[in-house]
Amino acid sequence: DSHLSPSVAKELITTAQALVGPRGRGIYATDESPEAMDALFQAAEAGDSDEQGPKKYSDSERRERRKEWKKDAYEVMSSEFVSGVILSSETLLDFNLGPSLTSKGIIVGVRAHGELAPLPTSPFEFIVQGLDNLLSNLQAARAAGARFSKWRAPIACTSPALELPSQVSLDVQAETLAMFAAISQQAGLVPIVEPDVEFSADASLERSVEVHEKAIGMIYARCREHGVLLEGTLLKPSFPQPGLKHPSRSNINPKDIALATVTVISRSVPSAVPGVVFLSGGLPSSVAISYLSAVNALVNSSSAPSPFTRLPPLTFSYGRAIQGDAIKHWVSGDKDSLKASLEDACKSCYRAAKGD
Ligand code: 13P
Repeated sequence: DSHLSPSVAKELITTAQALVGPRGRGIYATDESPEAMDALFQAAEAGDSDEQGPKKYSDSERRERRKEWKKDAYEVMSSEFVSGVILSSETLLDFNLGPSLTSKGIIVGVRAHGELAPLPTSPFEFIVQGLDNLLSNLQAARAAGARFSKWRAPIACTSPALELPSQVSLDVQAETLAMFAAISQQAGLVPIVEPDVEFSADASLERSVEVHEKAIGMIYARCREHGVLLEGTLLKPSFPQPGLKHPSRSNINPKDIALATVTVISRSVPSAVPGVVFLSGGLPSSVAISYLSAVNALVNSSSAPSPFTRLPPLTFSYGRAIQGDAIKHWVSGDKDSLKASLEDACKSCYRAAKGD
């Protein structure tokens, strides 16, 4: 009863499975907007401490730096550890760097979401823009070699007393993500649906679990209404965790995060979904890797309850946790360390996703 042709449906399913297998492989997310990329360079240079203050670059120098960084980073990627890379539209369409990845057997993806606008009724929550022109944008991305896309929806998360997320924001994000997923499949791209539950506030781990479950459950309810072929999608969630302003933040045990994470996934992700790829959300690289490793150790353990052993691959779609240190080496011109740092991060993510 799908509106997709059998050949499109088959390709979507094959691509989604290839992005999460063989077990251990995952995604490198490098789809920052040009402005966000410039800010990452600037922050890395500030850490490089020189007395003259931030270096000044012209627009064309900034563009060239973004292009050179992406080229250097993509050159290090190996399909042994990395199944896919998510590109910004600048990297895909203007720099045309998709083929450098495709030629190595790495699947190219594109960021589909646009800018955020405050929700009128709730100024600390956001509408994600980008549904206008989405079909034609994604068709252009496919023509440039992309085979998957992603859409990030931020979801606030406070203690119940502070009442976030609001019901209206959950409704908006679920509807928007489901429409994105349907349109992405219409363009022949596997949608990665990314509800990013924030951890900057005062929520407990239990509250974070509750918000994750509710948000993810609502997304799949809307996906059904929009006729999304779940077998040709992936979910990219955050790890449930206590907020930075919650007292338990200072002594988190990765095993607790793993149990919370696996509980959320087993309760809220339909078994038709072929895989889950976590975001790192600005956690230090070692922490993001320790959570992924604990998650996979839990599902692999012989004493795991049966709902946990039936889950699809649980792997990474990390941005900052993979490239954070590498950018620092790159701005200081140390290409050997850049290469070693990126390789090491990808291998560590791969091992964590295997549960080694
Ligand atoms: P982080 O792993 O840095 O959170 O990036 C993943 C991503 O794609 C965010 O949208």
